Amino acid sequence: MKRVAILISGGGSNMIRLLQDMTGDHPARPVLVASNDPQAGGLARAADMGVPTAAIDHRAFPRDRAAFEQALLEPILQAEPDIICLAGFMRILTPGFVQRFQGRMLNIHPSLLPKYPGLDTHARAIAAGDTQAGCTVHLVTPELDAGPALGQARVPVLPGDDAATLAARVLVQEHRLYPAVLRRFASGDRTPLVL
Ligand code: GRF
Repeated sequence: MKRVAILISGGGSNMIRLLQDMTGDHPARPVLVASNDPQAGGLARAADMGVPTAAIDHRAFPRDRAAFEQALLEPILQAEPDIICLAGFMRILTPGFVQRFQGRMLNIHPSLLPKYPGLDTHARAIAAGDTQAGCTVHLVTPELDAGPALGQARVPVLPGDDAATLAARVLVQEHRLYPAVLRRFASGDRTPLVL
């Protein structure tokens, strides 16, 4: 049974779907939900679902990313995860942290990578006149949003869409894609999944 730690920064809607899916014959179980924000709404949801939580406030380590990560590592290493899932985690991780888990750390990004790494993905897709958008689950590498894709889901960009309407349509697919990719990844299958 693979042990999964999930890192969040906010409401954790993707984290919740991952927890809901890791039951029964699923080859993985959650061992920790951790956040860089003690106020993250997802922490209470994870606790309600019986998953151990931890919060390391990144604001307590101003201009010292390495010290923040050192503190964040403590509960993570204690949980002894086989896989780490970044789910709405909004801090950039140093290459040192990434390399420690490279090959077993996943992230979900709200664009069809390699298009639109970074922020404001939906506004950028609309501004570019794209007719399709979507989300990507990828392995995390030191370069931001650049690791090999493990799965993608597409949605149409509709006339009249703004960033909020497109984000809502993509989020529905994120909630389908991430659990499906984690289930496949935890079973040792690395074939990219296209939904
Ligand atoms: C989602 O759009 C996700 O793609 C991005 O963070 C947003 C919030 O995710 N990474 P969640 O609801 O906290 O899972």
